[in-house]
Amino acid sequence: MTKLGVNIDHSATLRQARYRDCLDNRQIIIEPDVLQIALLAEKAGADSITAHLREDRRHMVDADLANLRRNISTKLNMEMACNPDVLSVALDIVPDYACLVPENRAEVTTEGGLDILSNMQKTAKTVEALSQKGVVVSIFIDPEAKQIEAAKSIGAPVVELHTGAYANSWGDLPKRQRELERLRRASERARELGITVNSGHGINYQNVSPLLEAAAFNELNIGHSIICRALVVGIEKAVSEMKALINAR
Ligand code: PXP
Repeated sequence: MTKLGVNIDHSATLRQARYRDCLDNRQIIIEPDVLQIALLAEKAGADSITAHLREDRRHMVDADLANLRRNISTKLNMEMACNPDVLSVALDIVPDYACLVPENRAEVTTEGGLDILSNMQKTAKTVEALSQKGVVVSIFIDPEAKQIEAAKSIGAPVVELHTGAYANSWGDLPKRQRELERLRRASERARELGITVNSGHGINYQNVSPLLEAAAFNELNIGHSIICRALVVGIEKAVSEMKALINAR
């Protein structure tokens, strides 16, 4: 059964829009409470909680990761760039999983997969440091055989395939089918190499079922669509609706 990882970064984005400079002020009600969102997501069926600690701390901050680590009962997946400052937080917190992503300060969200081939040494060192602590490391890559083979060569046990191009192709059926085929081939290549395959980025209530028809994934990591749906129906219902779509496959 495909698992659901709920990315709660956007709940922290909302919080930072108002309370960025007073997170330590105990007199103020700081909302939304990121941990509460995580606990409700778990109650509704999330198999893991993802939080991205960005270099600029624009949404999640160090204390959120520590608080999630202490209090959630499923798995904590920490998204992070191969950056020494964030790596030292990860080595301290020891999440269950770490997902290595590229980071570009100007981007609104993670825009493309990590190009392992162009960042081989830095990525390999990060995989090694985290693995030595028992963290299961995944690398967020475009669905390309050469990136999967590079992930294998540096000892990453998991890859997360970037589904953004598939999500963006929704209005163009031939393109969408090409993107699904790319994802199917990539997931097969990873499996041949003994690598666990997850996917994420831009997955929503409309595009999740065709994705699961095209390829098998261990886990889908979904953030934006669930948090948006939660604004209308609440986080528990938003998560359970997504879980039902995944389980229907
Ligand atoms: N997986 C990774 C590695 C990501 O960087 C993101 C975006 O933060 C997601 C999954 C979730 O993408 P979305 O918010 O579009 O569901």
